[in-house]
Amino acid sequence: MAIERVEPYLSAEAIGTRIAEIGAELSRDLDPVEPTVFVCVLKGSIMFYADLLRAVTTPTNCAFLAVSSYHGGTKSTGAVRLTHDLTIDIADRDVVLVEDIVDTGLTMDYLLNLLRARRPRSLRVCTLLHKPAREEIKVPIDYCGFTIDDVFVVGFGLDFQQRYRDVPFIGVMHFDDADPA
Ligand code: IMP
Repeated sequence: MAIERVEPYLSAEAIGTRIAEIGAELSRDLDPVEPTVFVCVLKGSIMFYADLLRAVTTPTNCAFLAVSSYHGGTKSTGAVRLTHDLTIDIADRDVVLVEDIVDTGLTMDYLLNLLRARRPRSLRVCTLLHKPAREEIKVPIDYCGFTIDDVFVVGFGLDFQQRYRDVPFIGVMHFDDADPA
């Protein structure tokens, strides 16, 4: 049996500093009067989304959607499924899509096609993490917190089998042999 171990990778402080920077950048770029729709991609983006919204000084509306792309392991299956749709109309609205991580890019590509078809006035992509080593499809990223190595990370909203989302920092998941010969 393997023992799970989480090795610190990005501290809560470093994440907070970077989110403040992205929030300031978005506040400069977004409409100062008309609320921008911030779309939270459940569940992985919850922590990033909550902190980012509080770092943005321009008016915002909250919207949520959920997708599933992993089925319990550390590798994507490639099959993206919408499990909860937006409950608001985004036609002619400025939209920021907030993701936890762009890995293969398949989920983001799926979401961009879904949202573009609804004719928003603008559509920006904001991701906390980007793992370019595993890219299968190129997607536009307007705001990125950190470019990371080819490692499986958990914490700050990201999970392994629905656990570790509540860890306040981002760590690399290791699976140690419980009974080394
Ligand atoms: P993609 O479709 O391969 O880009 O993967 C996107 C989704 O897979 C993300 O929104 C995450 O939910 C999940 N994911 C990808 N890499 C990781 C990781 O290192 N840790 C936890 N979840 C991940």
